[in-house]
Amino acid sequence: MNRKGMTLSQHLTESRLCGDGDMAGLLTTLASAAKRISREVNRAGLVDILGFTGEHNVQGEAVCKLDVLAHDMMIDALRPSGHVCALASEEAEHPLFLAPHEPRGPYVVLFDPLDGSSNIDAGITIGTIFSIYRAQSADATLSDLLQSGSRQVAAGYALYGSSTLFVYTAGAGVHSYTLDAGVGEFRLTHENLRMPERGTIYSANEANYPRWCAGVQRYIDALKDPDGPCTYSARYVGSLVADFHRTLLYGGLFLYPADPRDAPNGKLRLLYEAAPLARIAEAAGGRASTGSEDVLSLQPTALHQRVPLFIGSAEDVSAVEASIRQCA
Ligand code: AHG
Ligand code: MN
Ligand code: MN
Ligand code: MN
Repeated sequence: MNRKGMTLSQHLTESRLCGDGDMAGLLTTLASAAKRISREVNRAGLVDILGFTGEHNVQGEAVCKLDVLAHDMMIDALRPSGHVCALASEEAEHPLFLAPHEPRGPYVVLFDPLDGSSNIDAGITIGTIFSIYRAQSADATLSDLLQSGSRQVAAGYALYGSSTLFVYTAGAGVHSYTLDAGVGEFRLTHENLRMPERGTIYSANEANYPRWCAGVQRYIDALKDPDGPCTYSARYVGSLVADFHRTLLYGGLFLYPADPRDAPNGKLRLLYEAAPLARIAEAAGGRASTGSEDVLSLQPTALHQRVPLFIGSAEDVSAVEASIRQCA
């Protein structure tokens, strides 16, 4: 049966997501938040929500007005939804535990409300990333938020680009929907996405090359070898979610290695960025590694923890890991 064009709610009903909570309801709530954020992103230049707030977040980054707006929209959508008992965001130092008098559900959601902040004012693709776990009980504690990525029950992102997309996995496949903005519905455009086993694109902020470890440098050098087995192209948007989405569709490798000067543990956040995208990559046949360990096997120790990230086609990720091992 051709399911292309089905609305997200029709497709969620068809998919019969199981579990003891209303996962379809939670994904619908997240998609609604994404639609609202998308609308703000689309008219950002017209309503004075470009630029910085003047504050810095717990990550030490200058906060953009849209970071705050997207964070607030995610909280406003999730908190009263009845699906969650705790929330954590890149933009908030502390998690939010719902009080017993609030409508609480079995899930915890961790999110990067606006990924690619440095691209906002240039109208370049940005997104929202989310990660969903089950809590031990509605009286959630920090340990419910610090679960290994392998325990995610769902993960996904919205992409605000030439179209607004919503991509998720809840265990059975990775599906992508495109927003039909005129009617405000996400419609199925890719079902059971598979990442190519090997790609011909690498994606990195190569200005950091001099500070990468020898194994990563050698791997990238080899990709540029005119006598090498295949020719690679370089693409780098600078919004992880956009660089990842291209990698999901076309294959290849996205890397943000550790950098002893500026990012000794890597730049990207384990719980809001690396783990959810790793979950999607693996569900699509790809891989995600820190260079030496599977991202999904890591046990987080802090909410805002950072990790080096190598994510993409399974063969590309394994090849860069091998180069890192050889140079260790
Ligand atoms: P965020 O905007 O959520 O803080 O994330 C920024 C991240 C990520 O989107 C991107 O891959 C990376 O920062 C880009 O970093 P560089 O500017 O150092 O290349
Ligand atoms: Mn940020
Ligand atoms: Mn981000
Ligand atoms: Mn962000």
